[in-house]
Amino acid sequence: MNDYFLNLNSTNKNSLIKDMYRYAKDNNVPIISDEGLVYLLQLIRLTNAKKILEVGTAIGYSAIQMAMIDENIHIDTIERDMDAYNIAIFNINKAKLNNNIHVILKDGLTVTKNDLMGTKNYGYDLIFIDAAKAQYKNFFNLFTPYLKKGGIVVCDNLMFHGLVGLPQDEKDKQVTTKNLKGLVRKIEEFNEWLSKQKGYKTDFLRIGDGMSVSVKL
Ligand SMILES: C[S@@+](CC[C@H](N)C(=O)[O-])C[C@H]1O[C@@H](n2cnc3c(N)ncnc32)[C@H](O)[C@@H]1O
Repeated sequence: MNDYFLNLNSTNKNSLIKDMYRYAKDNNVPIISDEGLVYLLQLIRLTNAKKILEVGTAIGYSAIQMAMIDENIHIDTIERDMDAYNIAIFNINKAKLNNNIHVILKDGLTVTKNDLMGTKNYGYDLIFIDAAKAQYKNFFNLFTPYLKKGGIVVCDNLMFHGLVGLPQDEKDKQVTTKNLKGLVRKIEEFNEWLSKQKGYKTDFLRIGDGMSVSVKL
């Protein structure tokens, strides 16, 4: 997004948020793009989402931003990396949001219903998938049974730095390592699969690094 529009958007920029943002940039922690965040937060307001599941906490940046919208928002967020988890807990405590954000230290693929506080009363209103890109289909299949009808799934990084969906000759030039090729192929397969899911209406948007927004029908 060009900076002119970005500067017009008023996301919360308190000192904790500024510190977290700087920490993420200085330490190469991948956090949601500024534009993606603006869109995600507005989706939450528009849909009045209160029960949110996030897969991929990192240092808690997006979870804190989401929870700051409204004191009635409850977020379950999953992180498998112990260092990231500890930093997220520190930041969440600092933001005084420990009653609103529940961090689950586990590999997302091993999370069960019992780990998810949000399922106790009713399903999630919104699921934000932002962890290992190669596992998106598995995360989607594992967690969408806990999404209520009319709920939303947002997936981030579906263009993967612009490498997804390139014409073959461009891809051959830019996607050179075996690992990267495998990852790009996986994301392309996921996008294709998601676009065909019958129980969902999905939009693919050129926001940030590419986002999908699926509504459960
Ligand atoms: C892109 S970052 C999340 C950024 C965060 N949502 C934000 O915008 O502030 C992805 C995180 O997912 C975590 N992760 C990756 N695969 C995971 C898995 N299978 N289970 C749980 N966490 C995972 C990584 O350790 C990393 O911290």
